[in-house]
Amino acid sequence: EALRIDVVTIFPEYLAPLRAALLGKAIDRGLLQLDVHDLRNWTHDVHKAVDDSPYGGGPGMVMKPQVWGEALDEVCAGPTPPRLVVPTPGGRPFTQEMAREYAAEPWLVFACGRYEGIDQRVLDHYASRMPVDEVSIGDYVLVGGEVAVLVMVEAVARLLPGVLGNPASAQEDSFSDGLLEGPCYTRPEVWRDLAVPDVLRSGNHAAIARWRRDRALERTFHRRPDLLAALPEDALDRHDRAM
Ligand code: ADE
Repeated sequence: EALRIDVVTIFPEYLAPLRAALLGKAIDRGLLQLDVHDLRNWTHDVHKAVDDSPYGGGPGMVMKPQVWGEALDEVCAGPTPPRLVVPTPGGRPFTQEMAREYAAEPWLVFACGRYEGIDQRVLDHYASRMPVDEVSIGDYVLVGGEVAVLVMVEAVARLLPGVLGNPASAQEDSFSDGLLEGPCYTRPEVWRDLAVPDVLRSGNHAAIARWRRDRALERTFHRRPDLLAALPEDALDRHDRAM
């Protein structure tokens, strides 16, 4: 069945890119069902207020619990509740592993906060009704959760069956074996005096696989030593260790 995704935001137009290119095609083909909701639809006052000043003082505004409660009660209603994902720089880091888990879910609801965040009681309340993940896409601060949702939905949707033309591309990604992908080349053989590595034109598939593995190890060692350190004990063979 198609993965169903609902997004609640005060800037629905920010999510328009999800209907473009590859993801747009996935929606058109029924592989992904996407609905974007304007949080202000659930306000009752003339100003359509969604935020208020923080208890305890301090800068910025906090999103009001009542509006979120009415919105999520309606959006999350159904026989089996969705997984609720709340992007926030204070969340747990989003990873390829989480993208795989989300791609296996039937239904995801993303709640985009702006300002300083959403009243914590909203998250606490829904956590008693459904799985709730507060998730960060990286150690930097965006102005709101919308762009984080673009990132996460794209990472998830490309893993859905039928979305990528060639399913092998998802299997051979950076991170799928815990290493960064090495460099890649296409024609011409020489470009601005730079030649494609000979081994890639040798036709020797074992040598090509070994070369690619070595470049992946090298790149991971230099750019992401944390990933190498996190590999399971048996992930590296004797040749790998000799690199
Ligand atoms: N909202 C603001 N910054 C964010 C981040 N880094 N990840 C997820 N949501 C955010």
